[in-house]
Amino acid sequence: MGPGALLVLLVLCMGSASAGKVLVWPADYSHWINLKAIMHELTARGHHVTVLLPSYFHITDSNQPSPFLLEKVTVPFSKAEMDASLSNILHLWIYEQHEMSLWEFSSAFYDFVVELLSKNKILCDMVVLNEKLMKKLQLAGFDLLISDPIAPCGELVAEKLQIPFVYSIRFSMGNALERFCGAIPAPPSYVPISTSGLTDRMSFTERMKNMLLYLSHDFFFYQIIWRDWNQYYSDVLGTPTTLCETMGKAELWLIRTYWDFEFPRPLLPNFEFVGGLHCQPAKPLPEEMEDFVQSSGEHGIVVFSLGSMVQNLTDEKSNIIALALSQIPQKVLWRYKGKRPETLGSNTRLYDWIPQNDLLGHSKTKAFITHGGTNGIYEAIYHGIPMVGIPLFADQPDNIAHMRAKGMAVEVNFHTMTAQDLVEAVNMVLHNATYKENAVRLSQIHHDQPIKPLARAVFWIEFVMRHKSAKHLRPAAHHLTWYQYHCLDVMAFLAACAAVFLFSTVKCCLFCCQKCGRVMKKRKTE
Ligand SMILES: *[C@@H]1O[C@H](CO)[C@@H](O)[C@H](O)[C@H]1NC(C)=O
Ligand SMILES: *[C@@H]1O[C@H](CO)[C@@H](O)[C@H](O)[C@H]1NC(C)=O
Repeated sequence: MGPGALLVLLVLCMGSASAGKVLVWPADYSHWINLKAIMHELTARGHHVTVLLPSYFHITDSNQPSPFLLEKVTVPFSKAEMDASLSNILHLWIYEQHEMSLWEFSSAFYDFVVELLSKNKILCDMVVLNEKLMKKLQLAGFDLLISDPIAPCGELVAEKLQIPFVYSIRFSMGNALERFCGAIPAPPSYVPISTSGLTDRMSFTERMKNMLLYLSHDFFFYQIIWRDWNQYYSDVLGTPTTLCETMGKAELWLIRTYWDFEFPRPLLPNFEFVGGLHCQPAKPLPEEMEDFVQSSGEHGIVVFSLGSMVQNLTDEKSNIIALALSQIPQKVLWRYKGKRPETLGSNTRLYDWIPQNDLLGHSKTKAFITHGGTNGIYEAIYHGIPMVGIPLFADQPDNIAHMRAKGMAVEVNFHTMTAQDLVEAVNMVLHNATYKENAVRLSQIHHDQPIKPLARAVFWIEFVMRHKSAKHLRPAAHHLTWYQYHCLDVMAFLAACAAVFLFSTVKCCLFCCQKCGRVMKKRKTE
């Protein structure tokens, strides 16, 4: 064998050793953007990616061939049915929540969550109880499963296939999954619960609010949401377990934020903060768009999008917004699919879709008006563009609260805003230099990392494939009960010892005193 053949053999061996097979349990809408970036990178590095794709998901572009193998899972309910219940809750959230009592909205939201989870369970049935499909997955010999735990079941599939799994997650409601199942510490005194709008500097009443929110979420998940799933997981795996115990077996948690966005907090070695991994340097714009952008001259442009889930607005709101935008000298690119507002100015153009990352990275871009989704925020951080936030629902108000606390955003209230409010907010981020300075500072922090977030995510995924696990990073907290974790048993024991000691000392003293007293009395009478 010549040296050439040896080299070929060596390369082949290395190739087969490093090419892994990855199974993906995805989540829909914007949740897919991050996972997709990771999957593309894994594919580019020679791994084979298979996505378990539920028939009601929106994440695949039917016009383009997928770079991944798709294993379609057909469910007995339609995409339209799912879309209808989602658009109902979004309408409630965006237009009616501020007029509803907390109780009214919570119960509507609870109904939505319950419906979603029951659909999720049906989907899960279609996979784990489908012997033919499970056999096929088993035979495919996957090395690892990647899942977004916002929808349970990915971990169950991994457990059935007996392969390690890794999570990619932005946050869970009340951070319950990260805290309970991942065991990451979250002291309520300075780690604000997600969606609370609180920062890491809290007053007494804010800490009270934070604590109560943690406790109510704990109760909600333990007592209400997880019970059914615990039984379901036990039945499917044939051994008594819980949802959380199964999720706690995740080798790694890849969190979609970083310290540019997040407040500093305690960490675990199996949590990696890889926010912004989908961001890229800007690519050239389509010609028509570039011409429009260049026509803005020295004033530059403002990019405006309320995200992929809000296609249209009421006429009232769209007119307020269009009127406000018509009053600034910048050119505006607005991603909007609804009816053309009557007040639309000549400086504003509507687009069904915009290459948001490329626009934010354009040298003419001065500001970004956003609903505050994490992906858009990260693109703005990446390119150092200050923002006006018009949060609508879910984590958006909280995300904008973070960006305000970091001095990179101004917030406008969607329900009460007038055209004047919006103009003032846009002018503030355009003309008050502190917002741009903070945006550039956060951008520098984001870029100045020893290993880029995408490379870190991929490194750890490959690490788990190479070593079959990352158990050395797993804290022993997983083996403790809640009272052991907080050392309540030890404290109770110490308190009991102290009580016994105190009791016996007091008893002794009393006894001595009585003795002395009797002796004294005796002497007196003598
Ligand atoms: C958006 O458009 C859909 C379909 O045309 C319509 O049913 C819905 O009411 C519109 N939403 C708003 C807020 O106007
Ligand atoms: C600019 O913004 C900062 C931060 O919000 C604020 O403290 C400052 O007063 C503003 N300056 C002007 C001139 O409005």
